[in-house]
Amino acid sequence: MIKPPQTAPVGEELAALRAQTHDQIRDLRGRISELGADELELILTGARSHYAWTDRPVMDETLRAIYDIVKMGPTSMNCSPARFVFVRSDEGREKLKKALKPANVPKVATAPVTAIIAHDIEFWKELLYLFPHEDRRPHFDGKDEHSEVTAFRNGTLQGAYFMIAARALGLDVGAMSGFSNEIIDAEFFAGTTLRSNFLCNLGYADETALFQKLPRFEFDDVCSFA
Ligand SMILES: Cc1cc2nc3c(=O)[nH]c(=O)nc-3n(C[C@H](O)[C@H](O)[C@H](O)COP(=O)(O)O)c2cc1C
Repeated sequence: MIKPPQTAPVGEELAALRAQTHDQIRDLRGRISELGADELELILTGARSHYAWTDRPVMDETLRAIYDIVKMGPTSMNCSPARFVFVRSDEGREKLKKALKPANVPKVATAPVTAIIAHDIEFWKELLYLFPHEDRRPHFDGKDEHSEVTAFRNGTLQGAYFMIAARALGLDVGAMSGFSNEIIDAEFFAGTTLRSNFLCNLGYADETALFQKLPRFEFDDVCSFA
């Protein structure tokens, strides 16, 4: 996929678009200033990583709705390197199974969907579409290490947006890094520029598999001022 280059607006068109953007932000701030405690509990403070799943399916529209939230999250230069594969066929699950640590096999077996959170190390080839006002492709062309670090950093962020978006829409998630990235890449991405980052089970959880919430660091443990 190389999307067609976008023409960057200039002059009066640009001024009108900027004014519209400022109005949108003022309008948003007028309608809502912060999330309530319940909403925060749903997405982070009370949410849990889940390990077992009910048989309630996840509809295609729901996966699309999650992605429509994720895509709006920030990435450097708007580079949007994450690619998502929703594994839900028996054949797909068999391929996943080859890569999983044994403890993770039952978690995938019962999940309605397991998302492979991946990134494209040649994401920069899309920058004329995603960042049209200046050609930033030379920042990455021929600079593989810089491209890979940028893809991993921003793809990881998009993976986090994915988990929070899913929770915000009422789903449960269970991320997994207990697997072989090499095997996943060979099974799903051979001959491509996609690389796996982590897996994320998605669905409506069976909460009876949960253990107690683990401790977290306090502010003074890990935060400082400089
Ligand atoms: C990137 C990532 C990878 C994880 N990998 C695994 C995994 O392979 N197996 C597993 O059982 N849990 C995995 N977890 C779940 C974590 O252990 C869990 O989020 C952590 O213990 C905190 O629990 P809580 O989210 O329920 O508060 C992973 C979580 C993340 C975010």
